[in-house]
Amino acid sequence: MSIAFDDATRVFHLRNEHLSYLIRVLDNGTLGHLYFGSPLADEASYAQFISREFLGFDNRLGDPVPLEYPTAGIGDYRVPAVSVRQPDGSTMLDLRYTGHRVFAGKPALPGLPSTYVQAYEEAETLEIQLADTPADLEIRLYYTLFSDRPIVARSARIRNVRALTQVVECAMSASLDLPDSDWEMVQLSGAWARERHVVERQLRPGLQSIGSLRGASGHEHNPFLVLRRPTTTEEHGEAYGLSLVYSGNFLAEADVDTYGTSRVRLGINPEGFAWTLERGAEFCTPEAILAYSDAGLGALSDAFHALFRDRLARGVWRDAPRPIVINNWEATYFDFDEPKLLEIASSARELGIELFVLDDGWFGRRDSDNSSLGDWSVNLTKLPGGIDGLARKIEALGMRFGIWIEPEMVSQRSQLFTDHGDWAVGTPARPRTEGRNQLVLDMSRPEVVNHLFGVFSDLLGHAPISYVKWDMNRNITEPFSAALPPERQGEFFHRYILGMYELFERLTRAFPEVLFESCASGGGRFDPGMLAFAPQAWTSDQTDAVERLKIQWGTSLAYPISSMAAHVSAVPNHQVGRVTPLQTRAAVSFFGVLGYELDPTALTQEERIQVADQVAFYKERRDLFQRGRFVRLRSPFEGDGNETAWLTVSEDRRRAVVGHYRILNRPNSGPSRLRLRGLDAAASYSVSVWPAGDDAVARANAGVHGGDELMRVGLLVNSEDPADSRAAGDFAACLFDLEVA
Ligand code: DGJ
Repeated sequence: MSIAFDDATRVFHLRNEHLSYLIRVLDNGTLGHLYFGSPLADEASYAQFISREFLGFDNRLGDPVPLEYPTAGIGDYRVPAVSVRQPDGSTMLDLRYTGHRVFAGKPALPGLPSTYVQAYEEAETLEIQLADTPADLEIRLYYTLFSDRPIVARSARIRNVRALTQVVECAMSASLDLPDSDWEMVQLSGAWARERHVVERQLRPGLQSIGSLRGASGHEHNPFLVLRRPTTTEEHGEAYGLSLVYSGNFLAEADVDTYGTSRVRLGINPEGFAWTLERGAEFCTPEAILAYSDAGLGALSDAFHALFRDRLARGVWRDAPRPIVINNWEATYFDFDEPKLLEIASSARELGIELFVLDDGWFGRRDSDNSSLGDWSVNLTKLPGGIDGLARKIEALGMRFGIWIEPEMVSQRSQLFTDHGDWAVGTPARPRTEGRNQLVLDMSRPEVVNHLFGVFSDLLGHAPISYVKWDMNRNITEPFSAALPPERQGEFFHRYILGMYELFERLTRAFPEVLFESCASGGGRFDPGMLAFAPQAWTSDQTDAVERLKIQWGTSLAYPISSMAAHVSAVPNHQVGRVTPLQTRAAVSFFGVLGYELDPTALTQEERIQVADQVAFYKERRDLFQRGRFVRLRSPFEGDGNETAWLTVSEDRRRAVVGHYRILNRPNSGPSRLRLRGLDAAASYSVSVWPAGDDAVARANAGVHGGDELMRVGLLVNSEDPADSRAAGDFAACLFDLEVA
């Protein structure tokens, strides 16, 4: 790894074994983007890379250059990375290089989560200083190159050095110019209960974007996109991945100009954003992660998974094996009392489940979703011994105890609202819109954050609580903070997120041994910002196994399996009414952090035997399921989507588990083979089938097979035997357990 600056050509070359990133200080001092892609030899300057492809505009810069951090008003008519309204009302900026420094390691971002290093040798950082003299504005661009990852982490800081105030109206975390537009844009989009489906489109002239204006990253689009060549597959070809370490309003956009060049930008959504900088004040953007792969989407995902799992997630739970939970939500909803919870817990304990999570409904007068958020004192009618009493009884059963909270919200029917109605977000003289019968607390206000820290540190300090599910069930309407002056209302959304991060930071610091899981009506805020505090997230309220295939597949493009909480629930499924086999539900949930979300006392004896077997199977391979390398094999988004397959393989490639899923059973469809990847071609693997059976699939695959054979020929996944086919039915799953013989 090195970050070199050639004094003669004024080219910066960030280079490691996976990538090169080249920036040049042009003759007039402007910063031009030269290249980002496969590594180039170290010695050459590549100054000639200022590309003639970027045509079509007369500008103040001389060459029609691709700018490294573009501004508006200087003749580059594409979308800018930064825009600042100056005291005279103008917004154009003409940024010129003033200096740079390179240092070992990686700085933290003030008030914002970011990736980090544990030793200085893990990364080098380049800081480039730019200035616009008439505006008296300084911008510092940061590029961290990790020694052994195909990743550059970027952020920018904008500083007003003059007396009068200036207003930042757009501040992207990264902008990247590419000399052509022969790319497919891959995004993770959806809605509640069908989050992060893979959506692809070819880049076309003009703007194409995804984003959020909801105050949270949202169910609809994830702050992540990939540009891949049309020929790129899981194994081959070029792809860029861009991810924003942020949980609020974002924009990810590609701008293709008339000559077919592409600009991609990623950052806080400029819509509704305006940040006032007094003299000497600085604005810091969130961090953007830029990854490059010339070995397909699989390698791109590997890079994101390892970074997010090992250098974004923090604390003891980053590496610790995650417990198998039983969550009472779908078992009881709001209708429970202590005896019922203890029955669920003790029944789950007998099955080997490790941690009981008490979900919504334990506080105030919360018997439905229309009251009590904000009144975080236990409902003694339901739980006469309090949280402490229940937690101790759960611990006495040999389980750990976890609890659900929704800190950022308030119900109008609550004491908190009666006492502090002004803490709820709302625009003056306009009615407040409720979502799920609740309002949002103004997290931009320090007194709200302090209050919540007091309430939840009290809760966590007075009961043996090992796990917290931090939920957030509505987006923001009537955005406004009573604590901000009129000219600063454009700061509200970002200040909300900064306040939420501050609360999370304080709680995780005060209670480092607690495992936090984030949640937002399922996966409505499943983003890298949240992963920095909570190493796992409730992937989706959708617990149906068939629907989960798409959700978990899509999520895996960016996020490691250690971040995906996946629960086995009851049938008919509560979201879609589908009845799938218990083994299929488990076979999907295994590929993530396993949990159960059903009433174990309602299981038949045969089902209890199955669940106990599932729990034992998972525990025995927990490291593989939570920290293995996840390899996507057959996509639910391709063809008719009837089959999905993936595997997880240990780092030393000695163990793997393959999951194969078939939605509808098709008559007489003939046998088919599934070729594996990621194994050791030279090793021999003993293969067994789970659940154990004696059908043609089990007979054909069980035994010892070479890694080469499994990768080149594959496993038999569909039996041609009519009797097997009848027995399998719809929604079938089969796992193959591989271990070096
Ligand atoms: C939404 C979550 O996604 C569910 O799992 C559950 O915790 C409910 N909220 C409780 O209100």
